[in-house]
Amino acid sequence: MQFIIEETYEDVSRAAADIIAEQIQSKPAAVLGLATGSTPIGTYEELVAKFKRGEVSFKDITTFNLDEYAGLNGDHDQSYRWFMNHHLFDNVDIDKVRTHVPSGNSDDPEKMCEDYEKAIEEAGGVDLQLLGLGHNGHIGFNEPCDEFPVATHYVELTQSTIEANSRLFNSIDEVPTAAYTMGIGTIMKAKKVLLLATGEGKAEIVKKAFKGEVTPQVPASILQSHPDCTIILDKEAASQL
Ligand code: F6R
Repeated sequence: MQFIIEETYEDVSRAAADIIAEQIQSKPAAVLGLATGSTPIGTYEELVAKFKRGEVSFKDITTFNLDEYAGLNGDHDQSYRWFMNHHLFDNVDIDKVRTHVPSGNSDDPEKMCEDYEKAIEEAGGVDLQLLGLGHNGHIGFNEPCDEFPVATHYVELTQSTIEANSRLFNSIDEVPTAAYTMGIGTIMKAKKVLLLATGEGKAEIVKKAFKGEVTPQVPASILQSHPDCTIILDKEAASQL
């Protein structure tokens, strides 16, 4: 695991966008695994700026998002499909046909999850997976549990995740209580992993996940055994390392 410690959120975003842009420049048809949440918004802004300056093109890129809320359609403004369209896909030259987000409203969720795994494999696997970090150590929506989940699956969200995500909804009652997420196995198959964490609120879980025991109770701790994992932190998130 390689740690990069930056001064501010903006510096973290720039460093992450530089690494993603290098990936695209070295393989213009790369497969990117993408995340939502507050943390990568600055990274997407930087990538859009790079695209507008002509430094990077997404025209041959394929993407797979980590997760989606169960029960939300892609046109719901809190769905992760909507988030990705708004923050990245609508602002660059990507072919939307090659952008994948698990369906929140499939009639056959089990098949949807199997098909998602197959589609990742058929695309050649994820070259670079971008991740945020939940306060309880979740990555994607892989919540603390007894065994690392292998593949894309349905998950019921913990109360702490529902509370953390309620900041984006009108009331906590509107926050979906379940989601579909890539498994830990799916994430670990990515050739390169880039995890971002910023702010003092993440300092404790950063220490637990990356300096503590590897355990499914802290799902991100598995990244300690990934062969090519870069963690970019701001000073606050790194303050307990
Ligand atoms: C989002 C995701 C989540 C977030 C995590 C941190 O697609 O998979 O694991 O990365 O909840 O969220 P923020 O960045 O809002 O602190």
